[in-house]
Amino acid sequence: MEKYVINGGKVLDGEVTISGAKNAAVAIIPAVILCDEPCRIENIPNISDVSLIGRILQQLGAEVKRIDKSTLYIDPRMINSHVATTDLVRGMRASYYLLGALLGRYNKAKVALPGGCNFCARPIDQHLKGFAALGARHELVNGAIIDVKADSRLQGNSVYLDMVSVGATMNIMLAAVKAEGLTVIENAAKEPHIVDLANFLNSMGAQIRGAGTDVIKIRGVDYLHGVTYSIIPDQIEAGTYMCAAAATRGRVLVKNITPKHLDSITAKLREIGCEIKEYDEAILVDATKKPLTRCNIKTMPHPGFPTDCQPQFTTLLATVNGTSIVNENVWETRYQYVSELTLMGAHISVEGRLAIIEGGSKLKGAPVKATDLRAGAALVIAGLCADGVTEVGSIQYIERGYENITEKLRALGADIKKVYKDESSDNVLRA
Ligand code: UD1
Repeated sequence: MEKYVINGGKVLDGEVTISGAKNAAVAIIPAVILCDEPCRIENIPNISDVSLIGRILQQLGAEVKRIDKSTLYIDPRMINSHVATTDLVRGMRASYYLLGALLGRYNKAKVALPGGCNFCARPIDQHLKGFAALGARHELVNGAIIDVKADSRLQGNSVYLDMVSVGATMNIMLAAVKAEGLTVIENAAKEPHIVDLANFLNSMGAQIRGAGTDVIKIRGVDYLHGVTYSIIPDQIEAGTYMCAAAATRGRVLVKNITPKHLDSITAKLREIGCEIKEYDEAILVDATKKPLTRCNIKTMPHPGFPTDCQPQFTTLLATVNGTSIVNENVWETRYQYVSELTLMGAHISVEGRLAIIEGGSKLKGAPVKATDLRAGAALVIAGLCADGVTEVGSIQYIERGYENITEKLRALGADIKKVYKDESSDNVLRA
């Protein structure tokens, strides 16, 4: 029953430091299962998805220790099971990476189907198609557990993905790293976290070429040695703070990032009238110079505009002048937050994949609920620029992916706090 209470209308100003990338961490941590020695992973974000995947590895037998706030030590040598079917596994969307990692280590894996963000059904047919190409057949047990196994060592093969899938690309990479011979993934996704996973595996001795292009070649190896590896900055967390800066008409230096990963967001912020300055590892977003105006966006696999920034940018567009059109080209039902934004006074209509935003509304504070991680971030942004008080509920979704979001926003001048509510009396007990 925790929630964020935001007293809106404060202009964000200052500097924010971005944490390590969630979507890289949730693949790299399970990837340690494939390693034959202990690893040290740095720049780990302190978020609930990371704690969950760490605990899941412990359940499998690994030693997982947090050395400091952003460093994990993982010794996978005591892992003694290919079965991951606990509630923890079910509670996490990205637990599907356990399939590729356990399959790569044991030539078999039994993993509970994931939950996690609930914005729509999230198929894994392309992951399974890849595993099948490597020689592993699958069975769905009781509609809730995927059982994948091969009769002998996985064999490298060519896999053409029917659609560009981040998860399938990474999962097939994980399964193929120790397979016999050459695996080729065609029509592969190109997200920065795919390159990060490949870099991590290569630093342990894997032979992966082409990550970041649409053809990835993996030559199987027998042994992976332990490494110390630092995860890339979180492109989506950075994009969220950039949208928040613009939505409040503020001026924020977003630090500890790779500006290249943010090109699509930077281009759209420039298009609507923000002044952007790029540095080696930072971007300054300045929305104080001129009035912001409309634009259209279409989400696409990288290097297109990321679907994970769509809700935040749509919220920003609700505050600028003119009519904008958003085309959600990756997850067609990713507009569940729009009804909450409408409660706050936004004028947005949704028709299939399109959202039509009549901008320029002054948002008003209201009690709203996060329906998933990025929807939650969008509602926080709406609360920051609304008149009055916004209460954002179901914040467990937000805390899956944003480290210290209230502290980071307060340091920029926002009036936001997390409160713990007494369920029965509706009284706020402590802040
Ligand atoms: C990852 C990200 C998620 C982001 C998404 C797209 C993680 C943990 N999550 O999710 O935050 O929104 O990329 O950038 O990294 N599809 C299929 N069959 C499959 C796989 C995917 O039809 O086997 C479809 C999906 O329905 C969706 C599209 O392909 O429409 C993209 O999905 P995908 O890239 O696989 O997303 P995830 O890896 O699950």
